[in-house]
Amino acid sequence: MDSSEPSPSGEPDDRPAVPAQRSDQDAYLRVSDLRVRFDTEDGVVRAVDGVSFAVERGRTLGIVGESGSGKSVTSLAILGLHDPRRTTITGEISVGGRQVVGLSDEEVRRLRGRDMAMIFQDPLSALHPYYTVGRQIAEAYRVHHPKANRREARQRAVDMLDRVGIPQPARRFDQYPHEFSGGMRQRAMIAMSLVNDPALLIADEPTTALDVTVQAQILDLLADLQAEFHSAIILITHDLGVVGQVADDVLVMYGGRAVERGSVEQVLRSPQHPYTWGLLSSVPSLHGDADADLVPIPGNPPSLINLPSGCAFHPRCRYADRAGSRSRSDVPELRPAGQSDSDGHLVACHLGAEERAAFYAEDIASVGVAR
Ligand SMILES: Nc1ncnc2c1ncn2[C@@H]1O[C@H](COP(=O)(O)OP(=O)(O)O)[C@@H](O)[C@H]1O
Ligand SMILES: [Mg+2]
Repeated sequence: MDSSEPSPSGEPDDRPAVPAQRSDQDAYLRVSDLRVRFDTEDGVVRAVDGVSFAVERGRTLGIVGESGSGKSVTSLAILGLHDPRRTTITGEISVGGRQVVGLSDEEVRRLRGRDMAMIFQDPLSALHPYYTVGRQIAEAYRVHHPKANRREARQRAVDMLDRVGIPQPARRFDQYPHEFSGGMRQRAMIAMSLVNDPALLIADEPTTALDVTVQAQILDLLADLQAEFHSAIILITHDLGVVGQVADDVLVMYGGRAVERGSVEQVLRSPQHPYTWGLLSSVPSLHGDADADLVPIPGNPPSLINLPSGCAFHPRCRYADRAGSRSRSDVPELRPAGQSDSDGHLVACHLGAEERAAFYAEDIASVGVAR
């Protein structure tokens, strides 16, 4: 005897918080209202506080923000890698139609490696020093292909090493991680992540530790592999220049929340949030003029135990006063940025669209004067 009413068909959607993204329905990854909290001795860390986004196969989402904005915590939640005893996760994470939040360790492990994989900033955190690189890649393959014999797994690993641009892959197979250069190790880790052809790949600052030339090669490689494997990619970085090179869409995070979201075109050509303006003027690769001074955002990223009230960015925002006391009392919602309600460009800012346009012009001018 079920007393609850069946929901009437055609019922209007009652989730006003975040407007749907263009690709939401058929996206391979859908994250909605994700919240991740850690209980620590110092208090509750709200590392991710209501973030939503979606990524289709064949597309790349760049997640940007300063250190400590919740980027890695978001990706670890998708991969089911948080310690459940210390972490509270709510919201929805759907990977290929399956809900990840609430799955058992065993069930998530089955998805991880096969349907989704991660590339870390530091390959040595993923590659074991005592085993040859090839053996580790071959083992990663056999975990999800128990019927494959050793020879087949070895061949698959050699093929992957070749595919990621490692010369003499059959010889390299038998070498240890310390015998690889930093760039080659990063390629090897990419080979290991891709060995089971995952539909979702999360790359967390994959090029931060590499020099500029190798960084460009790795980014090119990711783009090539995506074209080949048609994967959905999340690229996490603090560098909007990297996002401009490889991403289709961008999510800007601040204090565990999304402050701006849109296509790369929208966010880089017509940035709407004062925090995004700050990120843009502090990125070396976006300045054509090599002599230009970079202008860092004044102040420090906030504590996620004690986030500033209202708009968390208000203590660092030079325009906060112009939005009145709201900036200190109300958390701004992510809403259409102005040009059109349906173009997918969203911003969480108390300023109106016209004010933002005027202040952005002012902001660019002042950065110009500072040079
Ligand atoms: N396991 C954890 N326990 C407590 N706090 C954590 C844990 N992991 C991350 N944090 C905190 O969550 C915040 C967001 O971290 P993170 O997502 O790693 O930032 P980033 O954007 O630099 O990747 C930081 O303040 C970090 O100290
Ligand atoms: Mg991180």
